[in-house]
Amino acid sequence: MEKLKSMDTIVNLCKNRGFVFPGSEIYGGFANTWDFGPVGVELKNNIKKAWWKRFVQENKDAYGVDCDILMNPRVWEASGHVESFGDPKMDCKICKQRFRADTLVEEFSKGKINAEGMTNEELEKYIADNKIKCPHCGNLSWTPIRKFNPMFITSRGTLEADADKVYLRPETCQGEYVNFLNVQRTSRAKLPFAIAQIGKSFRNEITPGNFLFRTIEFEQMELQNFCKESDAIDEYNKYKAKALQFVEDLGIAKENLRFHDHDKLAHYAKCACDIQYNFPIGWQELNGIHHRGTWDLSRHQQYSGKNMQYLDPYTNEKILATVIEYSIGADRLTLALLCEAYEEQKLENDTRVVMHFHPFIAPYKVAILPLQKNLNEKAEAVYNLLSKEFMCDYDEAGSIGKRYRRQDEIGTPYCVTIDFDTLEDDTVTIRDRDTMKQERIKIDKLIDYISARIKFN
Ligand code: GAP
Repeated sequence: MEKLKSMDTIVNLCKNRGFVFPGSEIYGGFANTWDFGPVGVELKNNIKKAWWKRFVQENKDAYGVDCDILMNPRVWEASGHVESFGDPKMDCKICKQRFRADTLVEEFSKGKINAEGMTNEELEKYIADNKIKCPHCGNLSWTPIRKFNPMFITSRGTLEADADKVYLRPETCQGEYVNFLNVQRTSRAKLPFAIAQIGKSFRNEITPGNFLFRTIEFEQMELQNFCKESDAIDEYNKYKAKALQFVEDLGIAKENLRFHDHDKLAHYAKCACDIQYNFPIGWQELNGIHHRGTWDLSRHQQYSGKNMQYLDPYTNEKILATVIEYSIGADRLTLALLCEAYEEQKLENDTRVVMHFHPFIAPYKVAILPLQKNLNEKAEAVYNLLSKEFMCDYDEAGSIGKRYRRQDEIGTPYCVTIDFDTLEDDTVTIRDRDTMKQERIKIDKLIDYISARIKFN
């Protein structure tokens, strides 16, 4: 059993099998943008569905929202993004390329140094002491470190002269904070309760790259759990456990996951950690869990002038809720699950690439394969039956062996083959992706058979 060795393998598979294509490809591409293809969009949608099911549907104290990307610019002043959101960047004076100083240090030390807690002076000293050269041109000639605000700016207004500056949101959670009172009132929610959403965020990252890992436009799945300060540590630990369980249940092996506590905390944060995944590029952040105290609601109260307090119905006490945030990138999780699912399996006369996705997230649940073209009519009837319940693929081209391999490469858990016996007795062969074992079952049992095996609970 060969697991994935390099990111290039996944990038090529994604491109060739319709998971992910380079953005604007016919124009020569547009760096660090990616378009999900027919197979990839199903995978990512299913991952988002699994997250929503686990964290909203199955949680009676969680409420979903879907907020606009464009928000009143004051939101970003309140959140601190206008003033201080930014990475420490350095420019190479020779080739003019821009890099993150912390990334330069981490890459040079092969991950042994965690640059997260280093000041700009410490970063500059380490780079100078170790003579870290520009990865692009190989020269050693850096500007001092400067902060760079990665928010994309656009404008609102019909005339350029009076156009107002607006930002593309760099995180989705602010929509959850500004709607705290709306959700609490309309849902009659009592602390602790959570507001969750899935949506696009945008960051003009200095060092995007590594395929879907760090892009300039990406989707986040974020949940803000509002609670009393006295319950915050328990809630933080609860979400740490839930976040880990979620990715394990999606099929990521325990040995490829670990917690990483933040050394450097935002001034308002009490504790924060990431779950890291062992990507082909090394251990990297998959998601974050942050204890944000009352910072978010107090800032929005201050900047909006609205009272953001919660009235405790039991004690009549008015308090600002403490926030425990759980945030994970949908694209980054998709990448982790692509890496984790990949296997090159040596068979007797052959090697097969198989994507062992959890069936719930597999792009297609079942492929319908007529053994010969003249069985199409029956095969289409089976497709019409099953496609009412599941996302199905239909493939009549090439030998049955090649068709199985194609389905293995996109992770289809079941293949249904229609043969001449099907015409006689309404039975089909159903093949399991992982074991390659085949069973003969009645067509009218297919829906129950598949439904029972693709659940995510
Ligand atoms: N609201 C908190 C927040 O946005 P973050 O650590 O900056 O925290 C949360 O982002 C998650 O979003 C990350 O753990 C990662 O999964 C994803 N993410 C962040 N930046 C990303 C990028 N440029 N490309 C892809 N995913 C990204």
